[in-house]
Amino acid sequence: LKSIAVITSGGDSPGMNAAARAVVRTALYEGVKVWGINDGYKGLLEENMFEMKSQSVSDIIQRGGTFLGTARCPEFETPEGRKKAYDILVKKGIQGLLIIGGDGSLRGAQKLSAEQGIPIVGLPGTIDNDVWGTDYTIGSDTAANTIVEAINKLRDTASAHSRIIVIEVMGRKSGWLAMVAGISGGAEYILVPEETYDLDAICDNLRTRYARGKRSSIIVVAEGVGSGTAIGKIIGDKTGIDTRISVLGHIQRGGSPSVEDRLKASRLGEKAALALISGLSNIVFGFQKGKIVSIDLHDAVTNIKSLDPDYLRLAKILS
Ligand code: F6P
Repeated sequence: LKSIAVITSGGDSPGMNAAARAVVRTALYEGVKVWGINDGYKGLLEENMFEMKSQSVSDIIQRGGTFLGTARCPEFETPEGRKKAYDILVKKGIQGLLIIGGDGSLRGAQKLSAEQGIPIVGLPGTIDNDVWGTDYTIGSDTAANTIVEAINKLRDTASAHSRIIVIEVMGRKSGWLAMVAGISGGAEYILVPEETYDLDAICDNLRTRYARGKRSSIIVVAEGVGSGTAIGKIIGDKTGIDTRISVLGHIQRGGSPSVEDRLKASRLGEKAALALISGLSNIVFGFQKGKIVSIDLHDAVTNIKSLDPDYLRLAKILS
């Protein structure tokens, strides 16, 4: 292809900038024109886009968020909206689209390609790490580190006061963030949507351990399980132990990307741009066992990623 566009869509994630930067510089290196679309599919429908130069992506690798902007866009969820998007791309001479986003955004791209036949290559960009077919999504490492930092701080104050602290973290459908950050932060319990839990047993166990002199407990709750505030209230009432609740919120989405996110996003960006330029379509690039792989886009958006059972077991042993 001779002209492509890059777009970020859905929730932002740290490392999206590194990925977009790699896409732009790879395209320019290959002598291909590259457009940046602002504000996701919404911006595409508003023709909010610009041709990018190497300098357009200077000074962004270290920044969280997405310099292109992003948005949630109901109009793009309709066939009419996607047809309009396609017509705009054709009008601008754009022959292929590189989309960086989570499962919802990739699903939209898959429909656009299926209905209009435009080449699409995707990159998984979401802190949730819930895209099927890849062990890794852009931003997940930085977000997990942000949560671990929060757990460290909460542990200090919990231990000073002999308290339980319940921390609610993101992950609507996936417990990956809660699990990985919880294990790394030494959490006593990690509640994830992939597994049932017995709050009575947890509370009995906490009471016994505090009676023996335990001074702190961190309970990580993935938002997909339910409200951390409600669960924390029940734990406090049932155990009679002083309990505090912390809902981490959008702090998890921002921040300067980790080395891992910068490097992996840059590597994925290069591969994805080369694939799209060479005419490949309907694939998502990701990592499996440390190696870059391409995944069928349709498979990536129709299958549900499961949580590694090793994590579930490890969390139990270490709690
Ligand atoms: O999909 C990523 C995610 O961070 C989820 O974990 C969270 O539930 C959601 O986005 C929040 O999205 P927003 O506030 O942008 O609607």
